[in-house]
Amino acid sequence: MVEIALPQNARVQKGITHAPEKQAEGTDYAPRRLHIYRWNPDTPDENPRMDCYTINAESCGPMVLDALIKIKNEIDATLTFRRSCREGICGSCAMNIDGQNTLACTKGLDEIKGDIHIRPLPHLSVVKDLVPDLSNFYKQYESIQPWLQTKTETPNDEWKQTTKAREKLDGLYECILCACCSTSCPSYWWNEEKYLGPAVLLQAYRWLTDSRDEATEERLAALDDPFSLYRCHTIMNCAKACPKSLSPAKAIAEIKKMLVKG
Ligand code: SF4
Ligand code: SF4
Ligand code: FES
Repeated sequence: MVEIALPQNARVQKGITHAPEKQAEGTDYAPRRLHIYRWNPDTPDENPRMDCYTINAESCGPMVLDALIKIKNEIDATLTFRRSCREGICGSCAMNIDGQNTLACTKGLDEIKGDIHIRPLPHLSVVKDLVPDLSNFYKQYESIQPWLQTKTETPNDEWKQTTKAREKLDGLYECILCACCSTSCPSYWWNEEKYLGPAVLLQAYRWLTDSRDEATEERLAALDDPFSLYRCHTIMNCAKACPKSLSPAKAIAEIKKMLVKG
């Protein structure tokens, strides 16, 4: 009988409990406890652990990212995470918050009842703490050649598009490549080397449906193999996970229709 178990050093252990933030005199106090995944590549033999921090939410901004920044600035400077825009635009603060992949900068602390559990995006190697390794994800994005490809002579002014044709890009151009969808997709978990995953396929469809692009045939041919596209089994986790309310599953279905039509 095959025994399936995590290697000893992959088990997440109970970590350090940091002293709670003290209440400053004459201020309101609303303690919130956060349990945060920690792993340091400089001590690779140590197990990952969940460290516990208690902050005063009254002296913190309203979002989970505000709490992480507060912890890093005031309690534990070693805590590592990515962020840039804090506006839901750059996609860099994507992580798993209370079991759901989402953006720390748009997730309100008040949307979560009780303790808050934060882990890196699932099923990716961890670079450090909440920072996942997205190298394969970006390599796959590059593989779909995400730029305008044309064959006719370049116009003097610009490549024009009717309003109607432009509208076809709605629901696609808004993707911020945060990877929340791909890392919530079971098919991607098991086939991440060969299956492109929902985020990259949504981007592929964005170029397939752009009226100005003239490489449709080549783009479709590149997706027409058993893995790149057809590992999607319409489980729909991707649409549920997307913090921008996009539907990669719908884009994937449209690509499949295009391939059937030839
Ligand atoms: S619909 Fe397809 S891409 Fe989306 S989660 Fe399911 S299998 Fe993955
Ligand atoms: S489709 Fe949504 S979840 Fe997926 S990468 Fe784009 S913005 Fe993120
Ligand atoms: S910091 Fe840019 S999306 Fe969150």
